[in-house]
Amino acid sequence: MSSSQLLMPRSLNKRPSTVPSLSSNTRGHQVYIETFGCQMNEYDTELLRALLKERGFRFTAQGEEADVVLFNTCAIRENAHNRLYGHLAEFKRAKQERGVVIGVLGCMAQNLKKDLLEERPFIDVLVGPDGYRRLPDLLTDALESHKRGMAVDLSESETYDDIVPDRTEGINGWIAVMRGCDNFCSFCVVPYTRGRERSRDPKGILEEARRLADQGVRQITLLGQNVNSYHYDQWDFANLLVGVADISGIQRVRFTSPHPKDFPPALIEAVAQHPHVCRHIHLPLQSGNDRILERMGRSYTQADYLYLVEAIQRKGPIALTTDIICGFCGETEQEFQDTMHVMRSVEFQAAFVFKYSERKHTIAARKYPDDVSDPVKGQRANRLVEWQKRVSAKKNRSLTGRSVEVLVEGHSKKSQSQWMGHSESNVTVVWDRSETPCPVGSLVSIIVDDASPSTLFGHLVPADS
Ligand code: 5AD
Ligand code: SF4
Repeated sequence: MSSSQLLMPRSLNKRPSTVPSLSSNTRGHQVYIETFGCQMNEYDTELLRALLKERGFRFTAQGEEADVVLFNTCAIRENAHNRLYGHLAEFKRAKQERGVVIGVLGCMAQNLKKDLLEERPFIDVLVGPDGYRRLPDLLTDALESHKRGMAVDLSESETYDDIVPDRTEGINGWIAVMRGCDNFCSFCVVPYTRGRERSRDPKGILEEARRLADQGVRQITLLGQNVNSYHYDQWDFANLLVGVADISGIQRVRFTSPHPKDFPPALIEAVAQHPHVCRHIHLPLQSGNDRILERMGRSYTQADYLYLVEAIQRKGPIALTTDIICGFCGETEQEFQDTMHVMRSVEFQAAFVFKYSERKHTIAARKYPDDVSDPVKGQRANRLVEWQKRVSAKKNRSLTGRSVEVLVEGHSKKSQSQWMGHSESNVTVVWDRSETPCPVGSLVSIIVDDASPSTLFGHLVPADS
C-alpha cells in the first residue's frame, strides 16, 4: 500500500519574508542531525548522511553552527512526539535569528505529514522513511529559494540497497535487512509510517557485513521491524543470520526485533549452535492474556508463546528479553495478572515495559477505546518493572564467581579507569583497568565479583591463566 501524493497548500509553500537568507550555494552547508528512537533510525541516519555527503553537504555536531537542522524522528509512543516538539521549539529561535533550515524526517514526518507543516510553519522540509533520496533536492530548494517541501510517499520496493551508510567508527555496526511491516498489530503505527514489508537482496547484505568487518566492526545487529520474516528467493532469516555470522572478523551477531510467529526450528538452531550468533533472543510478548493478544492482533496465545520459550530453553541457556505493553484497551487487573504469570514463569533477563499510548491511524485507535486510566497503566508498569528488577538482579548475582565472555567496547561511562563491554546476554559488564591490555573489539573473560539488576562488575582473567 502506498500513500497518495500529498500536495502542499500554496500558503505553506512560502517562508516568512522576515527570515534571513542563507548563501545560495548549498555545497558545504553545515548539517546537524539529531536522531530519536530505535536502532533502525540510527541506521537511517547513516543512510541520510551518505546521501547528503554525496551532494556536498557537511556535518557538524553543534546545532548552533548549523545551516540545516534535521530531526530523524520516531512515532512509536506519545513521549517520542513530545520530545520532538521540545527540540523543535529550541531551534525555532535559531530560525528567526539565522534563517536555519529545519527538516523533520522519518516516522513522525510520515505519520503527521501536512498537519505538522500546518501546525509548525517554521518547518521547511518533511521527509518520510521512503523519501530519503529526495532530501538533498528539498534542502537545496529550501536553502536557495526558501521553498518548503515534502516527500512522504511510501514505497513497495525502496530498500536503499545501493547506498553505503556513512557510519561513525566503532566496533558495533547495524544493517537493516528488511524494511516495513505487514503485521498490523493493532496498537502499532509502524505499518503506517514505514509501509509494507520488503527484504533486501542477501548479496548486498553480506557485502555490507564484509565491509563492516574490514572496517573493524566486531558485532553486527541485523535490523528489521519484523526481522525474522525476512525472505528473499530461497533465503530465509536463519540462512541470512548464519551467512553474516560466518564472515571472518565478525565475533558476534544479534538481531532485533523478531515476532514470535516467525520462529522456525532452524532459527532456534542457528542461535543455539552458531559460535558467532549471540545466545540471546529479544522476544516481544506484549501481553500474556489471550483476549488482549487477540485484540492486539498478535496471532499467538499465551500457550503458543510459552511453547516457543520452552523450545528455545531446551537448547540450553539462551537469554530472553521482552517488550510488554501495560494498560492496552480494556485490559482488566485479571488480564494483567496473566502477563505477570508469563513474567514469573519465563524469568526474562530484561523487559522493556511501556504504558499503552494510542497512535493515530492504528486499528486500536479506530476500534477500541483507550479506557485504562493513566494512573492504572503507570501502576501496572511499575509492578512489572519492580518484578523485573528483582529477577535481573537474581540472574546477574547468580553469576558471581563465574567467568563471562565480554566484547570490549571502551572505557566505562562513569570512569576512565574502568573498561566496559557487554556479555553475550547483552548485559553491561564493567571491570577495573589493569596492566593487562584489553584492546577494544577483543573478547575477554571477566570473573564476576558483584552485580546490580543492569550491570555485572568483575575482574579480568589474564589470557594465560
Ligand atoms: N504504545 C505503547 N507501546 C508501544 N509499542 C509499540 N507501539 C506502542 C504503543 N502504541 C512498544 C511495543 C514494541 C516496542 C518497540 O514498543 O512493545 O515491541
Ligand atoms: Fe509494530 Fe507489530 Fe510490526 Fe512490530 S510486528 S513493527 S509491533 S506492527
